[in-house]
Amino acid sequence: MHILITGGGGFLGQKLARKLAANGKLRGQEITAMTLMDVAVPACPDAGFPINAEACDVSDEAAVGRLFAKHGPFDVIYHLAAVVSGAAEADFDLGMRVNLMGSLNMFQAARAQGNCPVVVYASSIAAHGGEEPDVIVDGVELNPQTSYGAQKVMGELLLNDMSRKGFMDGRGLRLPTVSIRPGKANAAASSFMSSIFRDTMQGDTSNCPVGRDFLIFHSAPRTVVENLVIAGEIDGAEFGFNRCLNLPGRSDTVGEMIAAMTKVFGPEAEARITWDSDPVIEKIVNGWRNRVISEKALRLGFVQDKSFEDTVRWFLEDDIARPA
Ligand SMILES: NC(=O)c1ccc[n+]([C@@H]2O[C@H](COP(=O)([O-])OP(=O)(O)OC[C@H]3O[C@@H](n4cnc5c(N)ncnc54)[C@H](O)[C@@H]3O)[C@@H](O)[C@H]2O)c1
Repeated sequence: MHILITGGGGFLGQKLARKLAANGKLRGQEITAMTLMDVAVPACPDAGFPINAEACDVSDEAAVGRLFAKHGPFDVIYHLAAVVSGAAEADFDLGMRVNLMGSLNMFQAARAQGNCPVVVYASSIAAHGGEEPDVIVDGVELNPQTSYGAQKVMGELLLNDMSRKGFMDGRGLRLPTVSIRPGKANAAASSFMSSIFRDTMQGDTSNCPVGRDFLIFHSAPRTVVENLVIAGEIDGAEFGFNRCLNLPGRSDTVGEMIAAMTKVFGPEAEARITWDSDPVIEKIVNGWRNRVISEKALRLGFVQDKSFEDTVRWFLEDDIARPA
């Protein structure tokens, strides 16, 4: 069992690689090798099997071909490489190149292997928006309101069609906002959803640009990584006609999440939050969907966070001593 992770140097790619290395198995088989690829050579976790780390640009079809020729064939491909929402919105051509053409390159390379590999694709809650119900249920028409969301949806359509054709065994997961993200704040409008917890628990101040009653649809890194593993395990036929689904998450207000942090960590962190509203960020984040009922995912065995208190505990165990 040889696994490829694109975006293997990123936040979720690194966590997934560590989890798979610890598990040692996937789909009932021993993992015999793993290949991590990213724009820069990714770090490799300790593992009981060899790990290849390669710099490769998913938007470069020839480079992807060389990667597959050198290390393939792969049995399971996790396609996580992407430029995230802010960057794809600021630079339409970059987003199209990496998120759409990069996905097409990966799917075509998977197809060319001829072994119908399992392909797990990271889509996003950003697939939803606009003329959709306030509460998202399975089967609503996707109406993304960003270029990033539109590119993710185009990847979903490709994944579905190429699975229907038998070129690959695809599974697309619409991830909630993953919080608490370790490391440094990034330029995403959602950045505060991690930094008001991560930075304040590490002794820094952080500004919350929205009110305490702002509702967030979120999931913990540990839960999302567990769901990526589950996505690789499931029998593809169980997905039925649509290989893409909304992952489970939690809907909590900022105030509820802060209260959970205080319960686990104590009151010092909350005292480091400032509350200067930012109308620009508010306008963006108020357009996001924050209530999702993920019946299909739960029926297929995907897991849901039980509390934000767990997320805080897991951050303290996994990330506070080892910033990404
Ligand atoms: N973290 C979240 O809240 C969230 C929510 C919804 C969806 N997602 C999706 O999950 C996936 C992983 O997200 P993440 O949070 O780990 O993001 P991340 O930015 O930490 O990781 C993405 C990785 O992709 C790499 N990448 C970018 N362009 C590339 C290219 N041309 N070729 C090869 N690699 C390239 C980046 O260098 C980065 O390491 C992404 O597809 C993202 O869109 C994440």
